[in-house]
Amino acid sequence: MRRSVIIGTGHYLPERVVPNSWFEDRLDTTDEWIRSRSGIERRHFAAEGQTTSDLAIRAGRAAMEKAGIGPEDLDGVVLATSTPDFTFPAVATMVQAGLGIKRGFAYDVQAVCAGFVFALANADAMIRAGLASRVLVIGSETFSRIMDWTDRSTCVLFGDGAGAVVLEAQEAAGTSDDRGILASDLNSDGSLRELLYVDGGVSTTGTAGHLRMQGNLVFRHAVEKLAKTAHVALQKAGLTPSEVDWMVPHQANMRIITATAQKMGLPMEKVVLTVADHGNTSAASIPLALSVADSENRFQPGQLIVTEGIGGGLSWGSVVLRW
Ligand code: ACO
Repeated sequence: MRRSVIIGTGHYLPERVVPNSWFEDRLDTTDEWIRSRSGIERRHFAAEGQTTSDLAIRAGRAAMEKAGIGPEDLDGVVLATSTPDFTFPAVATMVQAGLGIKRGFAYDVQAVCAGFVFALANADAMIRAGLASRVLVIGSETFSRIMDWTDRSTCVLFGDGAGAVVLEAQEAAGTSDDRGILASDLNSDGSLRELLYVDGGVSTTGTAGHLRMQGNLVFRHAVEKLAKTAHVALQKAGLTPSEVDWMVPHQANMRIITATAQKMGLPMEKVVLTVADHGNTSAASIPLALSVADSENRFQPGQLIVTEGIGGGLSWGSVVLRW
């Protein structure tokens, strides 16, 4: 059977690093509050004029270099974002052009902070269905563009960045020992929209809007739903949490990550953490964490990795893969 194997990772973070102290000068907040409630110490913000596609192109190029492939080797680009350059075309098409890819498909997936998990599962399904053999999957965001800078309960939590992976079809035995994506679990519940949303858009206000969040309610849903979706994805693969080598969670909040790891019985040494340095980069956070850990050679061939994320919608899910 065909499996989708990650053959390269890459990421890009904008040059500008903003420490928590930057907010102390502007809002009624402290470095101590932000650190203790979220685990975030700093984040990167895109420069003026720097767009989601700019970040994505750099991350995509890095992943292709790592994979040792050129633009002619790709059958498609799937990109997760909630902060596109334009209403249309899809950011993925701009990345396609920017990377000199002349054929194949390119489209965006929008599932907010669960976006990369949805995009990865989507690209995997395309590969297993025989619609593509190599797909560039990217998460890229400029959440700094949708912050309400007067709302201390949200604007301190988010950052900008992009991460990417190259997925390649490889023949495998069809067992849980195979390399590549073994199983996915995707969920949405549109009745929970009010918990986390942007209060603008094309067919409502005609503006980009600002992020609104009921943080404590999101927190409660996150802990319960993330552990469950990871369990379900592992179960689909015929595996259990005790077999997991690495958890690569959406990097929203240290307390959510810790509580989820605890629910799964995973020690924190098995969890990839980038939230302190990146903040919450929404759909970019998981591929960023994957790429950072890969660049530090932390993953060994054959190791079992579980990713999980939740975001606006609410939407949440998990992908289980063997490195
Ligand atoms: N600095 C100082 N005080 C603050 C700040 C701040 N930046 N923000 C809020 N507060 C205050 C509040 O006003 C409130 O004060 P009050 O008690 O006088 O009303 C107090 O801190 C407590 O507020 P809570 O919202 O209850 O604080 P909580 O402990 O729940 O922490 C947080 C807030 C960090 C947002 C938490 O709820 C959380 O992590 N939620 C999950 C949010 C998240 O990660 N969302 C993203 C996941 S989905 C996605 O990635 C899009």
